[in-house]
Amino acid sequence: MALAPTFQLRSGARLPLLGLGTWPLNDDEAAATVERAISAGYRLIDTAENYRNEKGVGEGVRRSGIPREELFITTKFNREHHSVDGVRRAFETSARLLGVDYVDLLLVHWPNAGQGRHVEAVQGIAALMDEGLVRAIGTSNYKPSHLQDVIDAGIVPDVNQIQLDPQRPRIVDRAFHDEHGIVTESWSPLGQGSGLLDEPAVRGHRGSPWDDSRPGGAALARAAGPRRHPEVLASRAPRAEPRRLRLRALGGGRGKPLPAGEPGGRDRRFGRVRPLTGVAGATRACCPPPP
Ligand SMILES: NC(=O)c1ccc[n+]([C@@H]2O[C@H](COP(=O)([O-])OP(=O)(O)OC[C@H]3O[C@@H](n4cnc5c(N)ncnc54)[C@H](OP(=O)(O)O)[C@@H]3O)[C@@H](O)[C@H]2O)c1
Repeated sequence: MALAPTFQLRSGARLPLLGLGTWPLNDDEAAATVERAISAGYRLIDTAENYRNEKGVGEGVRRSGIPREELFITTKFNREHHSVDGVRRAFETSARLLGVDYVDLLLVHWPNAGQGRHVEAVQGIAALMDEGLVRAIGTSNYKPSHLQDVIDAGIVPDVNQIQLDPQRPRIVDRAFHDEHGIVTESWSPLGQGSGLLDEPAVRGHRGSPWDDSRPGGAALARAAGPRRHPEVLASRAPRAEPRRLRLRALGGGRGKPLPAGEPGGRDRRFGRVRPLTGVAGATRACCPPPP
């Protein structure tokens, strides 16, 4: 059975480099999908308070029969919990629904920086980590300026989970993460099942865009259908360099072109960066509203 390789986080916990995303599965779907995915070799499972499926995820974990310590369970909390006490309450609810004693990675789902409590939220996770209830500190959708605020308060998160795919290479964010030893974890790495997977540069490597879009990072892909689980897991194999370059070139397809020489920017070998065709991502509902 293929297992994703793991990477040691600052905290010492080992993060599998490919995980199963569970949004927008409901409890029943999550239970069935998580059970199947674990038996196919997934060990990282990603959920959130906002997905309202933590109970189903916990059920899938139990049905899998795999010992808890071999799994890496991730969840996230909403903005109303952005205080040290609030994070504790959020953790207790999530842990009860999931049926676990500890969470491997707990993330602030969105910074909601307008509230001015994006640092306090991370301090709440750090307090839980001190007690062994959480094994690694996570943020999600934090921009470099938000992360800098956290770092200035004396905490460096282990992981920042952001939207990242070959079309959105997030060069600036990743450079900041690398500089501070924060692991980049991609959400929606397959472009949410949009036309990205039919791009010529990606075709034949279905399930693999995540691999090429985030060297050194981790990715969460959702494949509800059991046939795709082994396919996605097997896609971690290294890619030939020309294909890598073409995939990076897709990154210039939306928004301002990136400078020449940067991944996703213009590339001498492939000429002008061309826009992606048929990508429905801009109009699709991608995720629940920021909690
Ligand atoms: N932190 C955040 O704010 C945030 C936001 C959004 C998402 N996320 C997390 O990231 C996870 C992944 O994102 P996502 O689910 O939006 O998008 P995604 O993983 O990029 O794409 C999922 C879509 O790709 C399809 N798919 C999967 N493997 C495939 C393959 N080998 N060939 C063809 N199609 C394939 C899936 O179809 P089937 O399901 O039919 O197999 C599904 O429609 C979420 O589930 C969630 O856990 C986090």
